Amino acid sequence: MSAAPDATALEVLRIRYLGRKGVVPSLMERLRELPPEQRRAFGQAVNSLKETLARALSDRKRELDEAEVSRARADIDWTLPGEWRGVGRLHPVTQIIERSVRIFRSLGFTVATGPDVETVHNNFDALNTPPDHPSRDPQDTFYLENGDLLRCHTSPVQVRYMMSRSPPVRIVAPGRCYRRDTPDATHSANFHQIEGLYVDRSVSLADLKGDLSYFARELMGPEVRVRFRPHFFPFTEPSVEVDFSCHVCRGAGCRVCKQSGWIEIAGAGMVHPNVFRAVGYDPEAVTGYAFGMGIERIAMVLFGIPDIRLLYENDLRYLSQF
Ligand code: PHE
Repeated sequence: MSAAPDATALEVLRIRYLGRKGVVPSLMERLRELPPEQRRAFGQAVNSLKETLARALSDRKRELDEAEVSRARADIDWTLPGEWRGVGRLHPVTQIIERSVRIFRSLGFTVATGPDVETVHNNFDALNTPPDHPSRDPQDTFYLENGDLLRCHTSPVQVRYMMSRSPPVRIVAPGRCYRRDTPDATHSANFHQIEGLYVDRSVSLADLKGDLSYFARELMGPEVRVRFRPHFFPFTEPSVEVDFSCHVCRGAGCRVCKQSGWIEIAGAGMVHPNVFRAVGYDPEAVTGYAFGMGIERIAMVLFGIPDIRLLYENDLRYLSQF
């Protein structure tokens, strides 16, 4: 057995000696033909022959297996490139949300969330938005049959959070929003915002400017410029719109910033006293700032994505670049 050159030869030997019609079983057959007083000794001899053969067989089998493994090892070309596994990656929108949340966390903000389906009260009334405000029009907002709606901004999370906690408040709330916008390069009926709300005893517009400027530099790099323009929102007073200088053309003018050198990123302002009243906060005791930033806009400037629809077509050839 120990001389068998390979596994096939060894198997031939196993069948010849130990197989059903092999030498050992046929010796066992002969047991019956012997006179009774010889059977015991003969049986023992055949059994020990069987054990010896079986051990020789398994020893040789192990030797052959080991030789096989080391031969296979010698055949491996360790310099070949590895097999590529399709590791997934986060969608650009998710990446921006995660990066933004990390920056605001470093400023002491925590994360709050609210549902996509909201009440008219949380989405509009509690945010000092009167019944005749154009954004309440069914032309602009998706209403459900029961009178609820798909939130058109993340601001209702402000209402929910303040209703459930007393001040101070320092939260960001990322999430989906819905508007009846006609899709074009910068509009999508479904998009994301990250809401911010900071309420305490003497929060000022300077805090808003400082915090959003810090956020912009952390996210976009130290060369980004931030511009605050006077604006109007029913739920803040005073209100501003916040622009970042275009990251794609460094302010020179390009397709992404529509040649202006600036991108409108957020609406913001000081929380309106009527919003504090609606949630049971005393507007004489606290002040606060709030902002709502467009995540897709940020993704577009940061990654140089010229059309918002590219984020929603699920074309992995495109998305996996980021
Ligand atoms: N909710 C506003 C929007 O969607 C943005 C905003 C949030 C403005 C908070 C002021 C304060 O346009």
